[in-house]
Amino acid sequence: VVNATSNFSARRIPDNFFGVFLEEINHEVSGGLWAELVSNRGFEAGNATSNIYPWSIIGDNSSIYVSTDLTSCFKRNKVALRMEVLCGGTKPCPCSGVGISNPGFWGMNIEEGKKYQIVYYVKALAMADLQISFTGTGDKKLASVNVTVGNTTNWTRMVNILEANASYHNASLQITTTTKGVYWLDQVSAMPMDTYKGNGFRNDLFKMVAELKPKFLRFPGGCFVEGNTLNNAFRWKDTVGPWEERPGHLNDVWNYWTDDGFGYFEGLQLAEDLHALPIWVFNAGISLKEQVNGSDLSPYVQDALDGIEFAKGCPTSRWGSVRAAMGHPKPFDLRYVAIGNEDCWKRNYLIFHDKIKYSYPDIKIISNCDGSDKPLNQPADLFDFHIYTSSTDMFAKSTKFDKTSRSGPKAFVSEYAVWKEDAAMGSLLAAVAEAAFLIGLEKNSDIVEMVSYAPLFLNINDKRWIPDAIVFDSYQHYGTPSYWVQKVFTESSGAIFLPTTLNTNSSNSLIASAINLKGSEDNQNYIRIKVVNFGVTPENLLICVSGLNSTVRHLGSTKTVLTSSNLMDENSFLDPIKVVPHQSPLESAAEEMNVILPPYS
Ligand code: AHR
Repeated sequence: VVNATSNFSARRIPDNFFGVFLEEINHEVSGGLWAELVSNRGFEAGNATSNIYPWSIIGDNSSIYVSTDLTSCFKRNKVALRMEVLCGGTKPCPCSGVGISNPGFWGMNIEEGKKYQIVYYVKALAMADLQISFTGTGDKKLASVNVTVGNTTNWTRMVNILEANASYHNASLQITTTTKGVYWLDQVSAMPMDTYKGNGFRNDLFKMVAELKPKFLRFPGGCFVEGNTLNNAFRWKDTVGPWEERPGHLNDVWNYWTDDGFGYFEGLQLAEDLHALPIWVFNAGISLKEQVNGSDLSPYVQDALDGIEFAKGCPTSRWGSVRAAMGHPKPFDLRYVAIGNEDCWKRNYLIFHDKIKYSYPDIKIISNCDGSDKPLNQPADLFDFHIYTSSTDMFAKSTKFDKTSRSGPKAFVSEYAVWKEDAAMGSLLAAVAEAAFLIGLEKNSDIVEMVSYAPLFLNINDKRWIPDAIVFDSYQHYGTPSYWVQKVFTESSGAIFLPTTLNTNSSNSLIASAINLKGSEDNQNYIRIKVVNFGVTPENLLICVSGLNSTVRHLGSTKTVLTSSNLMDENSFLDPIKVVPHQSPLESAAEEMNVILPPYS
């Protein structure tokens, strides 16, 4: 029996309870949500003596010689590509030309009728013709433009708009010529022109996140923020300003290069576009393998203060003016920062904490020390809690915060997921256990302030970390069962939590909660009762709702069930909605009603 009653001790779930966590992992961002099609656009991925991967050379040794040098016009990313075309004139080049080709992130998705903006920097000593094209299988040109460049020792910025005349999911960008000569190229970008609000976010993936109605966006990591070494940590100042001038860096934790087209500014912009509060995680002078202290820490502290000024400062301030120059004079609504990720190191923490509170007393500070079992021994507004575990343990962890001290800082469960063999790529079993955990967090939402699943995305071509909430490739995507569980919970943020009691002899496998909210479309008063059955048998449940001052209406009452025939059932590109919630009318809706809960639902 679940007994949900609205007549005493009801309380409001925090307004910003459910959110999302975005990290540069699994090519979530570059090659994912960030719509840039070119990978390694500045030829910086290796070092000065060259690693132009994934660019490849079109033509043989007798017709073209490609290398890199340090002649770029950009100060912070000096590597440029040098292309010496040996054919042309008396020894004609192949008709299709010679040059370079970029496959993007496991193939570019080019769609008929869509427009793409190509920007690149070029220097050529003599006049020459170049062809810029999206190319499909069998050298088919999906879109192309011929341009004349050169006869100058200066770099020229070129912008071409290409409209595709055919579709292909695995295209490449080619820059070719049939003219003999020496050419330099740098900062080659290809952006679809239909990104979300023109802000650079891939529309279909943005929509998937937006539909979770996240109230906050934690970014940009994760371990990505820390780096294996501090040299490769995320340093926000290298990620703002014109994209051409950003050096990019090696994401050495998740082992790939990122051009940092999606930098600190773009994270703040994404939060704003999602109507979510940004939660900025910055490097606290600690990587996975190193840490600095004393005077070596000062630049990190200054970076953090400057980063807050970049987000919140007035447009005339030192860093606020950089933001304004990027097109956002209005301050972003930054209210939370996290001092590092998973590094509970007291001395560094206190230095950051005190300096930030002195300059920005209203900013809420998140500590990485766990305060769930015993009180924190450092000042903080929130403490971060991460959990990756088995399904049985995740179910059991629904009571994790029952005994947490109510006098200390509140909890931010910023990463949770069932993983390993119980989850595979995202199973029903994992999702059901996570639903139970979330019900436990709702019950404890007087001390748990915010929660987000991790990781958010997986580019199927780069399985660094599974499972994830949303799986995609260059053109398609689906939500895992864990995604759909989150969707069921979206309306809890800011709802009224109703006390429930569960009387059962199967208490090892059942958990329930109830909330009261206004319907977003009809403004009617709804009670949502959520029950998880983590057992192998169906359960007959009598649900009693007491304290109502009007009759429950049958019309408009619904039942939403997430289950499947096998525990390890997953969604996939071939069957993207195998495990999704199914809604049906609840004919029996009343103050007392019987409901049958399928096993693992
Ligand atoms: O979410 C994947 C990783 O798990 C994050 O980078 C890190 O914070 C945690 O260890």
